Amino acid sequence: MRTHFCGEISQKQENDVIVLCGWVHRRRDHGGVIFIDLRDVSGIAQVVIDSDEHSEIFALGERLRHEYVLRVEGKVRLRPEGTENPDMQTGAIEVIVNTLEILNASSVLPFQLDEHSSVGEDTRLRYRYLDLRRPEMLNHLRFRSKVTHHIRNFLENNRFIDVETPILTRATPEGARDYLVPSRTHAGHFFALPQSPQLFKQILMVSGVDRYYQIAKCFRDEDLRADRQPEFTQVDLEASFVDEKAVMQIAEELIQSLFADILSVNLPTFPCITYAEAMQRFGSDKPDLRIPLELVELTDLMQDVEFKVFREAAQTGRVAALKLPGGTELSRKAIDDYTKFVSIYGAKGLAYIKVNDLAAGFSGLQSPILKFFPEQVIQLILERVAARTGDIIFFGADSVKVVSEALGALRVKLGHDLKLFDQNAWAPCWVVDFPMFEQNEKGGLQALHHPFTAPSCSIDALQKSPQEALSRAYDMVLNGVELGGGSMRIHDAAMQQAVFKLLGISTNQAEKEFGFLLKALQYGCPPHGGLAFGLDRLMMLMLKTTSIRDVIAFPKTQSAACMMTEAPGEVENEALKELHIKRRQPIGAS
Ligand code: AMO
Ligand code: AMP
Repeated sequence: MRTHFCGEISQKQENDVIVLCGWVHRRRDHGGVIFIDLRDVSGIAQVVIDSDEHSEIFALGERLRHEYVLRVEGKVRLRPEGTENPDMQTGAIEVIVNTLEILNASSVLPFQLDEHSSVGEDTRLRYRYLDLRRPEMLNHLRFRSKVTHHIRNFLENNRFIDVETPILTRATPEGARDYLVPSRTHAGHFFALPQSPQLFKQILMVSGVDRYYQIAKCFRDEDLRADRQPEFTQVDLEASFVDEKAVMQIAEELIQSLFADILSVNLPTFPCITYAEAMQRFGSDKPDLRIPLELVELTDLMQDVEFKVFREAAQTGRVAALKLPGGTELSRKAIDDYTKFVSIYGAKGLAYIKVNDLAAGFSGLQSPILKFFPEQVIQLILERVAARTGDIIFFGADSVKVVSEALGALRVKLGHDLKLFDQNAWAPCWVVDFPMFEQNEKGGLQALHHPFTAPSCSIDALQKSPQEALSRAYDMVLNGVELGGGSMRIHDAAMQQAVFKLLGISTNQAEKEFGFLLKALQYGCPPHGGLAFGLDRLMMLMLKTTSIRDVIAFPKTQSAACMMTEAPGEVENEALKELHIKRRQPIGAS
């Protein structure tokens, strides 16, 4: 239907007769001459209809509205001097129409495609096909395709093979709620959509696949955030006869080559930080290393102080400081706002010391808590945090979890609010040596990663002190975002049983839910490990978008619905009957 793409014509085509197809992006009627910006996937070309030359085409041209679909044939000419548009790739030329065909009309748009910022996201999602027409969104789709193409090439070149795994399956425990699908042929039974391909990729290692990858859809029914979707995509890997170093190296090389190839960015070698160090220094297991602030431990200094809150926290939890150079400038209101902010994480206050003049000793300090501390403790605090005139020192005193989370989040917030880092910087790292387990709300143990993660100790040691056991897991973090995570897996049935037991999963239950895995482990399972990247999060970082929905063609809303198709939808009683499901209440009743 066409000879060229709109965005790709230039002076080279001068005097050529070409055919273009596309949408009416803009139309300007200059009395006697109509200018149309014709848009296709590649960009925009200016098309000119002159009433002097073709009166019948001009009449047709007058009917054109936004987003009409056209096929035009015409001659390329240089724009008259002074009318070139240097902002447009095709700004030096225009096409003088000699044939115009309207391929389709368009209703009046619910929003103008170049005014998206003022359009509510609900409207954009409802008319996603129009939203995706915007060059910015089309670019995101193209970019994502380039990234997956690179990833596939890299992995294929490294002997990984792409294997698809089922969507209708059993529960795969990654810590979220399952999406369930009722079975018609097995009354009362349900499939679960995979939270990840975890168990299948391990089974593939038992099968001798050696190196597996998949760009896999995962489903998790969990509370959504700016970087979470109920249906998202992982770049999922697994390899046999490897240790954690080998997996981390290949994953790091993949990300480095991707950034070099697509963004022309040379990422440094990723530093490796232990979980304990990350919590201690940054109060987070996904530290944003761009931010030049660190938590300073004060627990040991606060054991005997008069201030009860601090003393008790030091004895049973944690006391830490966060120093902000130049922070004496912060107003009373700003400090109140930060106090409110840390309360989200459970902090009961945000004590501080402003160092107005270090040389002036005590009188140079301004703080609501000075009176609670002996002078020599204050001196030790100032030395420990290496205080200087102009600093504000914030304090957290509470359980280890609350102090780490509150000061960790404050560190990130201060970094962003006060623009303490270069927005173009990339700061990747690995976090390793995670604990095997954490305590759940009921006081039992739960896996920090998933229950198939290998511990770095023997069965005996694990059973003796499970709380102290570390796992062979690793997370890749980029600019404070958990980009991917993985581990060496348990490849021994006895160890897997022992871990299930510690997690409170009975032998019967383990047999029922994971019997196939336990059995497979008994038939010569090779040592293996892997990792999964969150592809959508990777896209967000590379494209610097703030919402995960901007990098997914058809995302769900915050309440896990699709505005365009209106899914989830109602189902007729007849269909439910076939699925052996009975409604408790008629539709519409609450
Ligand atoms: P994990 O649960 O850490 O590991 O997931 C891997 C990565 O997937 C991304 N991710 C998400 N992205 C968008 N929306 C979500 N709801 C969401 N949940 C997770 C994150 C995360 O780092 N089977 C293991 C991997 C392994 O051990 O090999 C797993 O799924 O970027
Ligand atoms: P109060 O004695 O409650 O008035 O607290 C004195 C100062 O200590 C105030 O600045 C509070 O914000 C702060 N503060 C109180 N509890 C904590 C806590 N658990 N951690 C950090 N600061 C606190």
